[in-house]
Amino acid sequence: MPLARSLSVTSLSGLEEWDEEFDREDAVLFEIAWEVANKVGGIYTVIQTKARLTCEEWGENYFLVGPYMESSVRTQVELIEPCNATLRRTIDKMNSSGCKAYFGRWLIEGSPYVILLDVGFTAWSLDRWKIELWENCSIGVPWFDREANDAVLFGFLTAWLLGEVTLTTKLFISVSSHFHEWLAGLGLVLCRQRQLPVATIFTTHATLLGRYLCAGSVDFYNKLAEFNVDKEAGDRQIYHRYCLERAAARCAHVFTTVSQITAIEAEHLLKRKPDIVTPNGLNVKKFSAMHEFQNLHAQSKARIQEFVRGHFYGHLDFNLDKTVFLFIAGRYEFSNKGADLFLEALARLNYLLRVNHSEVTIIAFFIMPARTNNFNVETLKGQAVRKQLWDTAQTVKERFGKKLYESLLVGQLPDVSKMLDKEDFTMMKRAIFATQRQCLPPICTHNMLEDSSDPILNCIRRIGLFNSAQDRVKVIFHPEFLSSTSPLLPMDYEEFVRGCHLGVFPSYYEPWGYTPAECTVMGIPSISTNLSGFGCFMEEHIADPSAYGIYILDRRYRGVDESCNQLTSFLFQFCQQSRRQRIIQRNRTERLSDLLDWRYLGRYYVSARHMALAKAFPDTYIYEPQEPTSATGFRYPRPASVPPSPAHSLHSSPHHSEAEDEEEPYDEDLEVEKDRVNIRQPFNLPNRNKNQTVGLPEKN
Ligand code: UDP
Ligand code: G6P
Ligand code: GLC
Repeated sequence: MPLARSLSVTSLSGLEEWDEEFDREDAVLFEIAWEVANKVGGIYTVIQTKARLTCEEWGENYFLVGPYMESSVRTQVELIEPCNATLRRTIDKMNSSGCKAYFGRWLIEGSPYVILLDVGFTAWSLDRWKIELWENCSIGVPWFDREANDAVLFGFLTAWLLGEVTLTTKLFISVSSHFHEWLAGLGLVLCRQRQLPVATIFTTHATLLGRYLCAGSVDFYNKLAEFNVDKEAGDRQIYHRYCLERAAARCAHVFTTVSQITAIEAEHLLKRKPDIVTPNGLNVKKFSAMHEFQNLHAQSKARIQEFVRGHFYGHLDFNLDKTVFLFIAGRYEFSNKGADLFLEALARLNYLLRVNHSEVTIIAFFIMPARTNNFNVETLKGQAVRKQLWDTAQTVKERFGKKLYESLLVGQLPDVSKMLDKEDFTMMKRAIFATQRQCLPPICTHNMLEDSSDPILNCIRRIGLFNSAQDRVKVIFHPEFLSSTSPLLPMDYEEFVRGCHLGVFPSYYEPWGYTPAECTVMGIPSISTNLSGFGCFMEEHIADPSAYGIYILDRRYRGVDESCNQLTSFLFQFCQQSRRQRIIQRNRTERLSDLLDWRYLGRYYVSARHMALAKAFPDTYIYEPQEPTSATGFRYPRPASVPPSPAHSLHSSPHHSEAEDEEEPYDEDLEVEKDRVNIRQPFNLPNRNKNQTVGLPEKN
């Protein structure tokens, strides 16, 4: 292993010779995560969406380091020769010493370089490295924890890689390395233990203990300061993982997390206060025409409606035009993600809609991956039946058209009663017979491996939401992430979100929560909570979030039942909105996108890196935190136009009727303009100089 080396350079100015091997003058950045080119959950979204901005800043000197996963590499990565001599030497050396490292370009926006390390190939080193880990860091990892074993292999491989890089680069190249989450954290610990000249940052996207404690029945937020962390970790058999995580947080030059709420949690559970909060951003797509995202909503909704037609065949006794699509999505953590609360609120909503004789039907989708063995027959049959009906209709239409044409050719008006013959009727009757069904439309689209103990299914059994004709609320559980190649619902997640009306994310434990953020930039309203990083961030920056379609549920100061009532009331109010009100609200939601753009939020990462460089190389770099300016802590004002809430909203026409809503899809330009002027003038978004460092917005 390379030995420690100290930096003797005191100033970068005046250096005549640059290391030709790296493009950019003086610095190189490695960003290390298990989720690099490996889709797992929200951390993948962080890395993948941030890449473009980081590439713009670091050019050819930015490298993402992740695990080699053959299936992902085949579809996402172009393997190429290392881009410079240092990396070529490093990778060659590692590969000739019994490991497999690959170099490539990740085929995403920004096309960043990736170095992928095959942990399986070096599994033979596991025991040796575990001994080293025990001897140097006193962390013992049990043999049966596969994920922790991967973390050990990945950690030693990344530390090896960085060791080689720092050994071969010339002294005036400063190396920064940004590690994400405990699975990648060991590399950082080893860099520090080996005293590599590397500035290190550790970002935690959740704490292990937080996730585990919240999933149990613990009053987490009120007891944060009281937990005996070692005991709690030991009781849950994650002590070794916890040690890896805590060591990474403690050893990093700069420790960051994704929200204020997780910063407090980290301070108590990992015993270090984060130096800076680095909120998660997105790449915001701006359409040239304002209403384009509204058109996309309509197109995607039509595709969801098609799926619903198939899924509910034989039971299509509700009006699809008055059907509202809700959804929840993300990793399958039943109570942490608030799926429990959502289901309970749906049961209450079902009751409210029934007693109020509402014409609205709700379809709530649950997109949470669980263990399955493929789609179930009934669900696939639904789509086949729908297709058959469509084909029948097309055939009859063609035959009808032909007869009509022939009749017109001979100058006669057709005898409509003879336009369909016996054969047509037989065909249609056969098609209708095929739609008869003995069972109710299925709740779950797949065969679940743990059907009898599955928490969503069990909750549905308890509350009795079985998709029956009387139910105004229907449920569809799709226990797999969406994909455009699915034979059932061939849509990717983004298209699906666009087609829905409301995302519902009533999480109890949610350090950030990308799902509502993604809804926002697509102009889809969402419900989050004041226990989620996203919810708190929006509350801090928007004067009246619900007017913008950002409903924030109070799970902090209310009991579960009260929160559930609040959620039910949000949902009930939402169901009462007219189409016109929904359109206006989507416009408002979409206008918040700038707030979530990496172009704005990326600056927190820049600050973290500057801070780390100054700590690691104090003779070379100085970090000057910016005084809070008007840019920090800004707030979007309440929209100037009337809120879309049914209770207060006034229609511009004095003789307004519901029918007008249906016919008048999009004509709120005047009000929209009013809001736009009000938002854009008094509250300038912080300026976008990428090198500028900013202070953390203070939380009230
Ligand atoms: N997601 C996805 N496909 C799906 C459903 C969700 O790719 O069918 C993604 C979604 O885009 C989001 C991520 O899963 O970026 C979930 O991230 P979040 O931060 O909300 O929660 P996590 O699951 O990481 O706890
Ligand atoms: C978009 C489209 C409109 C459509 C509307 C449906 O705004 O541009 O043409 O009528 O979506 O909205 P809804 O909320 O009913 O799905
Ligand atoms: C974790 C958190 C989630 C967050 C994501 C990205 O998966 O559970 O809340 O959005 O990381 O930071």
